[in-house]
Amino acid sequence: MLPQGKFPPKVFINGEIHSFEEARISVFDRGFLFGDGIYEVMMQLENGIFYKKAHLDRLQNNLNKIHIAFNVKEVERNLEPLLRASGLVDKSCLIYMQVTRGIAARKHAYPKEATPSVMMYALPYALPKVNPNKMNAILVPDVRWHRCDIKSVSLLGNIMANEAAMNNGADEAALVRDGVITEGSHTNIFFVKDGTVITHPANEHILNGVTRMIVLQLCQELGIPVLERAVTEDEIEQMDEAFFTGTTTQVAAIAKLGNHVYFHGEQVGTVTLRLQQAFGKLRSKETSGLTFETYINPQTI
Ligand SMILES: Cc1ncc(COP(=O)(O)O)c(C=O)c1O
Repeated sequence: MLPQGKFPPKVFINGEIHSFEEARISVFDRGFLFGDGIYEVMMQLENGIFYKKAHLDRLQNNLNKIHIAFNVKEVERNLEPLLRASGLVDKSCLIYMQVTRGIAARKHAYPKEATPSVMMYALPYALPKVNPNKMNAILVPDVRWHRCDIKSVSLLGNIMANEAAMNNGADEAALVRDGVITEGSHTNIFFVKDGTVITHPANEHILNGVTRMIVLQLCQELGIPVLERAVTEDEIEQMDEAFFTGTTTQVAAIAKLGNHVYFHGEQVGTVTLRLQQAFGKLRSKETSGLTFETYINPQTI
């Protein structure tokens, strides 16, 4: 018996498409044994896969970082067959992909001859144009490793933080490392002070979200000044607005962070609202071929 929950109709594994009940992977897969793999999540919306190239480029970039020899073109080629088998061609859905180092006898060092394992699925998933949620976030110590820029399938630190948020009746956890806010458990975090948007630099302590990069680009287009610098825990109450970003979170206004209340009811801050609306408008464009030139600004590491 499989546990309850929203499973995808089909799962792609190494070139074959299975029903979700029958999808199997070896217990000796290094993804299972070590969390030795990279994942990616993207959304198919009304105009195709939202920033598909940016997501696939990041997947390739991350695989290169951990020396998994795999070309993401193989993933891209198989998206259409997966969507067709799943009955999700042209439908709103979430696409999950992961590539691990493959199957090998258990040893820490990278095996010489493992073939990467590829798994992906598409799940029906609707997103509103603007995220209506007013987020309530708790602060949680950031106990993760020092390579948070790698989108590793090993997410223990993130899930523990998210679990703490759920247990406290909150929507998200904002992570605190050495007195500064790094990011959310599965989101990036932004602040607004005197009209300037402030977010943690894209270094090894955060995942450089595709949504983060879209928002930074929108700021540039809208003439909103940006500062890439970490905000300290003490500064939370001096900020005017705060919001989370992420592929399924989009741009979500933060009503409360730790003990500080940014707004009550529907009073979303003006800069957050402007960015939410500009972000929503991107959906009327074809964005699948767009990407970002640099994922990490070398000056900010
Ligand atoms: C830790 C972390 N930060 C940020 C993000 C946001 O990234 P993106 O906007 O690419 O979804 C995610 C998304 O999964 C994440 O897990």
